[in-house]
Amino acid sequence: MDGAAERARDLRRLIEDANYRYYVLDDPAIPDAEYDRLLRELQDLETAHPELLTPDSPTQRVGAGPLKDFPQVAHEVPMLSLNNAFSEGEVAAFDRRVREGLEREGEAEYAVEPKYDGLAITLRYEQGVFVRGATRGDGYTGEDVSANLRTIRAIPMRLETPTPPALLEVRGEVLMLRRDFDKLNQDARDKGEKPFVNPRNAAAGSLRQLDPRITAKRRLHFFAYGVGAVRDAELPATQGAVIDWLAALRLPVAAQRRVVSGVAGLLAYYNELGEQRGSLSFDIDGAVYKVNRLADQERLGFVSRAPRFAIAHKYPAQEELTVVEAIDVQVGRTGALTPVARLKPVFVGGVTVTNATLHNEDEARRKDVRVGDTVIVRRAGDVIPEVVKVVLKSRPWPSLVKPWQSRFELPKVCPVCESPVVRLQGETASRCINTMECPAQRKQAILHFVSRRAMDIEGLGDKLVEQLVDRGLVQTPADLYSLDMERIAGLDRMAEKSAENLLAAIAASRNRPLARFIFALGIRQVGEQTAKDLARHFGQLDALRAADAETLMRVPDVGPVVAAAIAAFFQESHNQVVIEALRDARAWVDGEAQAPSSGRYAGKTFVLTGTLPNLGRDAAKAMIEAAGGKAAGSVSKKTDYVVAGDEAGSKLTKAQELGVPILDEAAFLNMF
Ligand code: IVH
Repeated sequence: MDGAAERARDLRRLIEDANYRYYVLDDPAIPDAEYDRLLRELQDLETAHPELLTPDSPTQRVGAGPLKDFPQVAHEVPMLSLNNAFSEGEVAAFDRRVREGLEREGEAEYAVEPKYDGLAITLRYEQGVFVRGATRGDGYTGEDVSANLRTIRAIPMRLETPTPPALLEVRGEVLMLRRDFDKLNQDARDKGEKPFVNPRNAAAGSLRQLDPRITAKRRLHFFAYGVGAVRDAELPATQGAVIDWLAALRLPVAAQRRVVSGVAGLLAYYNELGEQRGSLSFDIDGAVYKVNRLADQERLGFVSRAPRFAIAHKYPAQEELTVVEAIDVQVGRTGALTPVARLKPVFVGGVTVTNATLHNEDEARRKDVRVGDTVIVRRAGDVIPEVVKVVLKSRPWPSLVKPWQSRFELPKVCPVCESPVVRLQGETASRCINTMECPAQRKQAILHFVSRRAMDIEGLGDKLVEQLVDRGLVQTPADLYSLDMERIAGLDRMAEKSAENLLAAIAASRNRPLARFIFALGIRQVGEQTAKDLARHFGQLDALRAADAETLMRVPDVGPVVAAAIAAFFQESHNQVVIEALRDARAWVDGEAQAPSSGRYAGKTFVLTGTLPNLGRDAAKAMIEAAGGKAAGSVSKKTDYVVAGDEAGSKLTKAQELGVPILDEAAFLNMF
């Protein structure tokens, strides 16, 4: 019995450590299979010994049956809102009010962080254990959504401290990471279901599910930004230190937080965060500035429902209304037809947007976008602007009355070369079948070939490629290497200097590494990473060309679909001719095949210790290396796993001290 209790405690710790590493630090410690195994072991143990079950056990995150409703909860400390600033002038006025309110000389100090675009939440920990969580509601009373919050692995069920406060309310924001949102919507589209409009709506919809099993599948995330009611704890003196303290308790907080001084510091932070906005893993709609010293916050107090000591400085909206002026159809590199809405120019997400993709025929039909419609466009991060939906009540009457008149239809022939368009079974894209000669496909293939991440030929933009193809000077990427002064001198807007630069850029692109060249070929299904994997695996283009699907599938992450696309590409006689011409032009250099640095455990360090009774050390080492991992000799903080066999000694002790995950032989075999 004691053994079971101890094992349950160890398992809980291992699982919550894994959650913390994966969801909070974004630095996974153990593979999914191992995680599942630990969780199952704990579930079995708790079933056999129900008295061992604790409310903070990770098994309790999964979610039981649906609730009837969400009970109301009164907030002990109200959850108020922030006033907004939309300009530098408004920020300066805020700072002036702060300094006047504090009657102090010199610059004020602020704790600054992102304004998350999610939903406000409060988490209640009693004696360090999560007991309840609620939405903001009207600020005074919210809804108890504890069961749903438990499914969020980034939220600790127990605070990491030997001396927990009697009560700690953590305030923060629940949101959905962009990658989880994209995946959720892709799944919805694949199933023909309606996708969510944006991550915020997806998070809101998921948090307000009465069935926590659905919430559990939605992958929500959480960031803490402050505290509510606190009992029996000495809070640090500043906002910045409070956040550091929450981080030490293992709550997720913003990596982008800082402490700055004065208006200049605030604005510099705003601009810096604004530049990062597109590449963050979550949506933000502003920066929040808070007077750093808690004593000063208290002194400044509140006006009506918002604090005087804090303000939200907003970024331009990522969604705006505009009007569809036309719907064009573009032909891409692989012949795929993409409907594109031409929009009345609108400023959204910090840039002026004039086009938005409608993705494909199904998507265009589903959204039923028509010329003349008022639409919501969204531009979040670096993604291509998108039409979110039509504002139906603003639809002009002719299409409302006679819907068939302006319903969008994809053309039956290619709008560029007039070849037939086909849509293969199981594909969402309709394609122009004229892969060899369609000028649109040629242009796109060349633009891809010269692009920065491919052969990186500077100065070859779409206008120039357009002319080169239309005048018959270039038909395939190989033709670029036989261009000369005489041939390009006659092009529009081609001065002598720019012609020289262009030829120099083309010449400089010879002898590119194999990986770049493979990517530049524009093989379907082969992105930058796959190109790198292929180059590393085969080392030589001819080895890749000769590989059949089965051989190709030995490359990490290459499955049957990718393998078939690669094999088909190299079998095509036209492609063979182009590749030979590129060889003559010395477009690439082969390299030696290298040991895989990709694979399931790429970059992971294992330490083997003790005797592995069935496997033996050498076999284990070979398995690790085949999966891209490294077998190291000594344990350090950088070690990802220690595989401990019989009679393991000091390495095992060291691993326990450092909290490195420890696997026995069975667990190790499970991972592979
Ligand atoms: S502090 C006294 N910090 O913005 C109010 N709020 O209008 C303290 N929000 O509903 C709020 N990110 O959920 C604060 N870093 C952040 C925030 C943040 C988003 C939300 C919050 C609230 C709204 C305030």
